Parts: sequence; structure tokens; C-alpha cells
Amino acid sequence: MTMTLEQVAEAMVAPGKGILAADESSGTIKRRFDSIKVENTEENRRDYREMLFRSTDAMKTAISGVILYDETIRQKAKDGTPLAKIIADTGALPGIKVDGGTKPLQFCKGEVVTEGLDGLPGRVKEYVGLGAKFAKWRAVIDIGQGIPSYTCIKANAHALARYAAICIEGGLVPIVEPEVLMDGAHDIDRCAEVTEWVLKEVYQELYYNRVVLEQTILKPNMVIAGKQSARQASRAEVAEKTVKVLKRCVPAAVPGIAFLSGGQSDEDATAHLHLMNAMGPLPWKLSFSYGRALQAAALKAWSGKAENFAAGQRAFSHRAKMNGLAAAGKWSEQKEKAVA
Ligand code: 13P
Repeated sequence: MTMTLEQVAEAMVAPGKGILAADESSGTIKRRFDSIKVENTEENRRDYREMLFRSTDAMKTAISGVILYDETIRQKAKDGTPLAKIIADTGALPGIKVDGGTKPLQFCKGEVVTEGLDGLPGRVKEYVGLGAKFAKWRAVIDIGQGIPSYTCIKANAHALARYAAICIEGGLVPIVEPEVLMDGAHDIDRCAEVTEWVLKEVYQELYYNRVVLEQTILKPNMVIAGKQSARQASRAEVAEKTVKVLKRCVPAAVPGIAFLSGGQSDEDATAHLHLMNAMGPLPWKLSFSYGRALQAAALKAWSGKAENFAAGQRAFSHRAKMNGLAAAGKWSEQKEKAVA
């Protein structure tokens, strides 16, 4: 049964489900493993991710898709089953990170642009053959003294749109991810202003590159104060300001928006998503595509030990289910505690 790109996009934001971002590059997963003092070997990366993907109940009830890294989509579990097959057998869709990471942007001190367009049509073709149904490309926008520049926003929006067009032509649903970082001391209103600017520019570039919005998913940051800001906004304010900016910028033709967690605490990421969904009706599905906010507890519980496999799965399953509830606007602190 082949699904159309529209059907894949709809399935990625199916009611009460969201995406597990497990596409950490080898450098990023090293930092995660360093935090639990686990060596960054191919086998450890395999065991850790196999643990997550074999959390069958949570995968079936709360996870619509998993973003994989190049190594992982080619990797086999201990018993020889391809990891992508373990995911597909739960009913979740395998996806793939296709960007080549960020590089310093010329003449824009402190700013970066995401690379990886060269040869992308060929890689998309290969990933389709490996079972991928969707892709991800992450652009990074930093807020600071005198930044972001229009040069940086424009270059990143253009690359995102070129990537999206290449994916669609090759048969993958593009997750369009422009991340405005929450590093820094800026307040929530500055984040709102920059996020609005970035999203306006991204949708303009998608239009100029003839991208069919019904075949895409947006993965944005929430509108939130910088981590070093003296004034941290309440959960209600984050939810309200995020929805306000999204309504101004994201056409209703986009089937779904799946947030990144970006360094928020696990429970904040869940609560914010819940509050936004509770504000409905909204023009698009609002869901999650969390990396850290889905994995932090599981990573700690596992700590690289085979005997902690079940404990790691319990921790992951709990967060997946809480976020699934939030995607449906049915989460509560009582439910958080009842299961914990
Ligand atoms: P976080 O949820 O940890 O921000 O990661 C999501 C992601 O995929 C970033 O590209």
C-alpha cells in the first residue's frame, strides 16, 4: 500500500500522536552519552535506540513517526532485524535527517547556515529505498546582540525551501524546521518577533520554490523567553504567544505543526503543547517532534546498562504517552503523577 505525500503528512500528526526525534548526529549523541558516562560506540548507539523503538506499546499508541540518522536507518538490531523495520512494525513511519549540519555564514559573525543541498536528490532516492517516508532539515537562528540578520534568515529560509522541493519531488514529506534558539537573555516578546519574521520568510520561500504545503509539516520552536532571561514567561503566556505567532504565519493548508523541545524541561514541553491544544479549534494539528523532552528520562534510566532496558523503556513510554495526551489536549498534572 503506497501512501500519498498528503496521507503521510496527515499520519505524522495523527490525533494523539507525535514524532520521536532520534536523529542525533554522532557528535550530538556523544554529548548525550557523555552526560551518563557511556562510551559513544556504534553498538551502544544501536542498543539505546533499539530500546526506544522496542517500547512497543508507547510506539503504537503515541508515536506516529521516528526521525533517524543516516547510521540508524542502515542499522540492524541485536537479532538482525533492521531498526527501520522494528519501527514500521509498530505502525510508526521511519523518517530521516538529510541536512548536513550548520556551518558559519560568511560575513555574518555568530550566525550559521545549514548545508546539504548538493547531491540531495540522490540521497533522497536512496532513503526512499531504505524505507523512509519523510525527512527533516533543521535551520538554526540565534538571537543576540544585533542578530539575527536578514542575511541569515534569508539564506536559511531559501535552503529549507530548496530542501522541501527536492524531498517532495523524490517522494518524502519534508519536515521544515526553522529553530529559533532559546539560548540567550532575550525575553519572550523578542522571541515572538524573531519567530514571526523567520516563519514569514520561510513560507515566502516555500511559495517561490513551488512547494505544495499540504505535503509538508512545520517543526518550529515555541515562543518562549531565552534561558538566561530574568523574566521567564508562564506556561499560559508561552501557549498564547506561540499560537498567536503561528496563526499570523502558517497557512491553514499546512496539515500539522510538530514542535521541537529545544531545551525546555520535559514537563514544560508537555504542558505547553497541552495548553495550546486546549485553546482550539486551530487551523492545523499541533503535535510534537521532541528529541530531548522524549529521551532525557529514558537516557538516564538506561545509563548504558543492559539490565536497565526495561526501566529505560518505562521512562520513554511515560513521556511518549504524556505527550500523546498533550497532542490531544487531554494531559493533566494529575495524569502525569498517576502514571509516574
Ligand atoms: P529537541 O526536541 O531536543 O529540540 O530536538 C528536536 C530536534 O529534532 C532538533 O532538530
